[in-house]
Amino acid sequence: MSLKDLNTKIAQCRKCKLWKDTNNAVPGEGPANAKLMLVGQNPGAEEDKTGKPFVGRAGKFLNKVLSENGIDRNEVFVSNIVKHVTPQNRPPFPDEVEACVPYLAAQMELVKPRIVVLMGKVAWQAPRLEGIEYIETVHPSAAMRFTKMRNRFMEDFAALKKRLNVSS
Ligand code: URA
Repeated sequence: MSLKDLNTKIAQCRKCKLWKDTNNAVPGEGPANAKLMLVGQNPGAEEDKTGKPFVGRAGKFLNKVLSENGIDRNEVFVSNIVKHVTPQNRPPFPDEVEACVPYLAAQMELVKPRIVVLMGKVAWQAPRLEGIEYIETVHPSAAMRFTKMRNRFMEDFAALKKRLNVSS
């Protein structure tokens, strides 16, 4: 299966009820051969409007941190645990995570990134595939709001930059 086929499956998915109140599925996007994958929680209102991940406030913050660390977002595969916006942007329920997470696993299998950064506790539930390095950090929305979380986020991305520059 290609990423395109997977996107179609995600757009047509009825395994949970979230799709009912949405404008677009937000499957995630990025090059099929990305070395780095970033995973968030679920799309928000801006993402629902556009069908693209991390384009709202948290996305702008994320873009800034990526560019400060010399990482080109165009080379990164950006995704989420859950592929549809949730009502009032609440955290996804466990059954929604369970229904949706196979799509993320399929993205990891297709892209085979070297490193996957799991942003926030919900993302930490992602499956771990052999041969991929996983880094857990806080969610960019939390990093925007709280100094302690921001410091952790910055440290983790600085460490990521170093990891990416080490050839393996
Ligand atoms: N927050 C997320 O977790 N994902 C997005 O795509 C946008 C905001």
